[in-house]
Amino acid sequence: ALSQDLAGRRIVVTAGGTREPLDPVRFLGNASSGRQGYAVATVAAARGARVTLIAANVELPVPSGADVIRVGDALSLREAVLKAAADADVVVMAAAVADFRPVTAAEHKIKKAAGAPQPVALEANPDILAELVAGRSGQLLVGFAAETGDASGSVLEHGRAKLAAKGCDLLVVNAVGEGRAFGQAENAAVILDAAGGEVDVPFGPKAVLAAAICDAIAARLD
Ligand code: C5P
Repeated sequence: ALSQDLAGRRIVVTAGGTREPLDPVRFLGNASSGRQGYAVATVAAARGARVTLIAANVELPVPSGADVIRVGDALSLREAVLKAAADADVVVMAAAVADFRPVTAAEHKIKKAAGAPQPVALEANPDILAELVAGRSGQLLVGFAAETGDASGSVLEHGRAKLAAKGCDLLVVNAVGEGRAFGQAENAAVILDAAGGEVDVPFGPKAVLAAAICDAIAARLD
């Protein structure tokens, strides 16, 4: 039988990608499918956790045993997460939250006007994970980071810097690009902890990475 090492634990998982409205039918979005967050929710529930899944624009079957709250944009995701986090033991921020949103969403569909296209003014969304860290009351906080290596550092170096900057307990770092991670059924990642630990999870099904994430969570709860 599957270990019940998360029995009774209250775990909030965000999944999917936010859509920031431009008008009633258009948005700025991203390619997150929600698969990795759903996999974490599925595994956590199977290991006994009480799971609240906050889903942003996900078209996947609801994991058995999870309560689902559906949200659209970053501000509604923020509201749902902060509320659910208040009495949670763990928050897993797997959702791809838009960094920016249009300053205004047009009430009516924007017309294809003659002449030059108009620029879209953007403003920053709140960093929800940073807010959770700042306001935490004992929750274990897990962030995700999709990174590409570049001239300023490797995927892992960027991940370490992000973990330090965000102040969460665990950071799941995926290398992205070249058909990896977003929307795919398989994923590879490194799970970093604030004490310098790292667990390498080789390329494989998202359920396997989800199990490794749940192992890392279970090891840090008591
Ligand atoms: O800084 P970056 O966007 O790469 O950080 C990713 C992590 O932060 C993810 O866990 C994501 O869910 C979270 N995040 C957030 N609020 C934002 C942007 C990202 O909580 N506005």
